[in-house]
Amino acid sequence: MSFSRFIIFGISFFLISCFPVIVAQQPYIGRATTVCDSRDNSTSVLGYTCNGLRRSCQAYLTFRAQPPYDSVATISTLLAANSSQLAQLNSVPENALFDTNRMVLVPVTCSCSGEHYQVNASYVVQQGDTYFMIANNTFQGLSTCQTLQAENDTLTRNLYAGTRITVPLRCACPTKNQSDDGVNYLLSYLITWNQFVSGISALFGVDTGRTLAANGLSESSIVYPFTTLLVPLQDPPTSSQVTAPQPPPPPFSTQPPSVPPPSGGSSKTWIYVVVGVVGGLVLASVVGGILFCVFFRKQKQKAETVVVSSQSFESIEKPLKKEADEDSHSQDFLESISSIAQSLKVYTFEELKAATQDFSPSCWIKGSVYRGTINGDFAAIKKMNGDVSKEINLLNKINHFNLIRLSGVSFNEGNWYLVYEYASNGPLSEWIHEKRDQTIMDWNQRLQIALDVASGLNYLHRYTSSPHVHKDLNSSNVLLDQDFRAKIANFGLARSVEGQEGQFALTRHIVGTKGYMAPEYLENGIVSPMLDVYAFGVLMLEILTGKEVSLLYEEVNTELSEVLTPVLYQDNGQENLRNLMDPSLQGKYSPEFALVLFRLIDSCLKKDPSDRPNMDDIFQSLSRIATSTLSGEWAISISEQRTTPR
Ligand SMILES: *[C@@H]1O[C@H](CO)[C@@H](O)[C@H](O)[C@H]1NC(C)=O
Ligand SMILES: *[C@@H]1O[C@H](CO)[C@@H](O)[C@H](O)[C@H]1NC(C)=O
Ligand SMILES: *[C@@H]1O[C@H](CO)[C@@H](O)[C@H](O)[C@H]1NC(C)=O
Ligand SMILES: *[C@@H]1O[C@H](CO)[C@@H](O)[C@H](O)[C@H]1NC(C)=O
Ligand SMILES: *[C@@H]1O[C@H](CO)[C@@H](O)[C@H](O)[C@H]1NC(C)=O
Ligand SMILES: *[C@@H]1O[C@H](CO)[C@@H](O)[C@H](O)[C@H]1NC(C)=O
Repeated sequence: MSFSRFIIFGISFFLISCFPVIVAQQPYIGRATTVCDSRDNSTSVLGYTCNGLRRSCQAYLTFRAQPPYDSVATISTLLAANSSQLAQLNSVPENALFDTNRMVLVPVTCSCSGEHYQVNASYVVQQGDTYFMIANNTFQGLSTCQTLQAENDTLTRNLYAGTRITVPLRCACPTKNQSDDGVNYLLSYLITWNQFVSGISALFGVDTGRTLAANGLSESSIVYPFTTLLVPLQDPPTSSQVTAPQPPPPPFSTQPPSVPPPSGGSSKTWIYVVVGVVGGLVLASVVGGILFCVFFRKQKQKAETVVVSSQSFESIEKPLKKEADEDSHSQDFLESISSIAQSLKVYTFEELKAATQDFSPSCWIKGSVYRGTINGDFAAIKKMNGDVSKEINLLNKINHFNLIRLSGVSFNEGNWYLVYEYASNGPLSEWIHEKRDQTIMDWNQRLQIALDVASGLNYLHRYTSSPHVHKDLNSSNVLLDQDFRAKIANFGLARSVEGQEGQFALTRHIVGTKGYMAPEYLENGIVSPMLDVYAFGVLMLEILTGKEVSLLYEEVNTELSEVLTPVLYQDNGQENLRNLMDPSLQGKYSPEFALVLFRLIDSCLKKDPSDRPNMDDIFQSLSRIATSTLSGEWAISISEQRTTPR
């Protein structure tokens, strides 16, 4: 270490000991990462200080798989980790390839090198690399340009392609205080877009206050992408913490196993038939949500779930503890379900094995979801562990054609198996963004889907016995059945808002899908049905433009509704309308109706939630448009929206 580093250290130590923030075990790095030529002495820009109980310890890093660093072997090499330990920690084989953006846990040995803790990784400089790019892009923020420069003892030296340099990675060992507090490991978590300390803490089941203290942050502090946050852990992290929660919402469509599938416009009858199956539905929606997540094939490019709720975390973690005990509880629960929800079939594990050819790869859909054949009908079967009772209870309150249905449940050796309706055409996102099978959805189909989703949400907001907010509506959570009718899935994040419309709840757990979350929720954690209204506006925009939400955001400065300005508020609106609409609809829609829809979307995207229409208004408007469009040969079915709430 250089003399200048020593001085800097000295000064930072001085500063740290003078400010009240100093209770911090290690100061958070903040924005210092991007300013390579200046060193903000008050941050941990050169690494975390060697202030721990031990000078060397087991520590953990996170990393997001990015080609070419997307296999156990390449990531271990890049980050100086032991590949067999890395594979084990992530519960994958040693030759595994990770999906792009999958969060990978990296076990490392962290040691003091001079005044800072670090892991020495080594890296061969590529053509065009700068210190900043190596630290931020290749190592994703696990190192900093300042420390790379310091390691190299000069600020100005050029980097030559082919040279091997030492890259100090940011890690730390618990301080005496933390250790006394039960903290055994520190994990260097790489923050990404739209994350909050609370969400990250929840992911690992850690109290937010402790994480804040570990990083010298206060509750109102802002954290930035591509920086590290130390998460104080009692036990080593597990792969379920970083993988299970990421999934947000996937979809699926379905056919009720016990009821003949509805044909095009007969949903009304169907709904009544289904009333008896209510409990199943509720369960189904929950499971559906989960399934949906699993379905998420291209999660990387699609909507990305930002933060996972601690609830889903709990449900994954719980069962591991006392299996025997848990088993008997589960048996009791299973029995209680069969009495409450008569329509919910309790399957034996043997029945599910038979339905999925013993969970054979040919029946595998994604993750732990399998397609089963039960009584000649397809079903989606999802294996999960944890406490599913909350979900089942929620699903028990829901019964609607446009909300995915849970039809059955089974329990075996500590795992739950939830049987959902199978939505044969899968997630809406595959049809609007990827134009699956070269099929282009026509105007009427799109309108029908919007109407279906509005209908499902309206039911959820108004007619469930305690009103619920879905909280994670997006195009991957809308599943299509064989008739392209929409079913909302993935109720994993849904919560109830007691009381009348206009009432709301506050949360510090910001959970949802990037791009769909309403500003008041992101900024203040306000949960109300208006959250779903905002997300619905985003979804409609996707449906009409055929563009992914991330692409739409590229066209605006701050608010998504800016994409509508040229159409709604400029003179040559008609021409601009043509540019905004999905090109594959060109000439196949009525500009008049399209304008009405864009106005509706504009109102859903209002910044102030009280300026947005409620779901009932939206459903009514869409119904009117649908009725006026009825002249087309593909009649839109406006199903009776209200099914008796239970
Ligand atoms: C950081 O340390 C350098 C000396 O190494 C000093 O010149 C600079 O003023 C310090 N910056 C701050 C913000 O204290
Ligand atoms: C450690 O804990 C003690 C008492 O619990 C406190 O006085 C001290 O300031 C703490 N030190 C740090 C660095 O947090
Ligand atoms: C990696 O870890 C395994 C088991 O923990 C150990 O047997 C092996 O020797 C380690 N490999 C290296 C290269 O350190
Ligand atoms: C890391 O590398 C630096 C030199 O680049 C060396 O001084 C330090 O001792 C090394 N630390 C460890 C833990 O190997
Ligand atoms: C840092 O790297 C990420 C990708 O890892 C990139 O998206 C981001 O733009 C980079 N930051 C800057 C300031 O270039
Ligand atoms: C610093 O970088 C130069 C090339 O830019 C390299 O030759 C040298 O080995 C590096 N020093 C260390 C300690 O990694």
